Amino acid sequence: MIIAPSLLASDFGRLGSEAARAHRSGAEWLHLDIMDGHFVPNISFGPEVVRVVRPHFKRTLDVHLMCSAPEILLKPFADAGSDRITVHVELGEQVTSLLWKIRANGQKVGLAINPPTRITEVRPYLPHIDLLLVMTVNPGFGGQPFIEECVPKVQQVAAWRRDLGLGFRIEVDGGINDKTAVECARAGADTLVAGTALFRHRNLGHAVRRMRRLAAAASPAAGGDFKLASGG
Ligand code: DX5
Ligand code: ZN
Repeated sequence: MIIAPSLLASDFGRLGSEAARAHRSGAEWLHLDIMDGHFVPNISFGPEVVRVVRPHFKRTLDVHLMCSAPEILLKPFADAGSDRITVHVELGEQVTSLLWKIRANGQKVGLAINPPTRITEVRPYLPHIDLLLVMTVNPGFGGQPFIEECVPKVQQVAAWRRDLGLGFRIEVDGGINDKTAVECARAGADTLVAGTALFRHRNLGHAVRRMRRLAAAASPAAGGDFKLASGG
């Protein structure tokens, strides 16, 4: 079970030390939400923030592009030190070439889906990705309430993964706390993005370990018979 604190919920005045705090917490990934003010009604941060946090968080930087024209951003984020790049299936005919370009840049490939989008939209891409991100809020802001109706999408993707013998990770993002983490893990999620529920704790390490322990205990995959893609 991978825990990925979302930098969006950190103190923007101390990004380097917040990334170091996330590293000390033992979180396997650090999730960076990139918003362009067009795909979502908010603007967050760009490649320079990846460059700033890179030396402080020494494990995986998981970059989530909520951007309408991500193609021009792939190289800057790769050069800044991103390990994984996720783009949205809502980008339609751009998706296939985006996935190939991310892979060509030597990064892990992620595909995200928003709550209103039918889960069948991601089906054709499953053999070509390392991660499927099921959004459990409408993207754009941290601190929103979890959307229960997204849980069946996690179950469906986990079933497809099993039936197709694939090894991509299933990530959820938005409104994830100890309670919803258990619900999503039970449905088949193995990678949990959490901002508000983690960064607000003074003892981030304790919060990360607790969420990981609760979710791992609920996960059907724990001891399951398929091997996940590498967690890097
Ligand atoms: C939405 C963002 C958030 C963020 C985590 O666009 O992607 O989901 O990562 O937010 P909270 O605070 O809900 O964990
Ligand atoms: Zn995100």
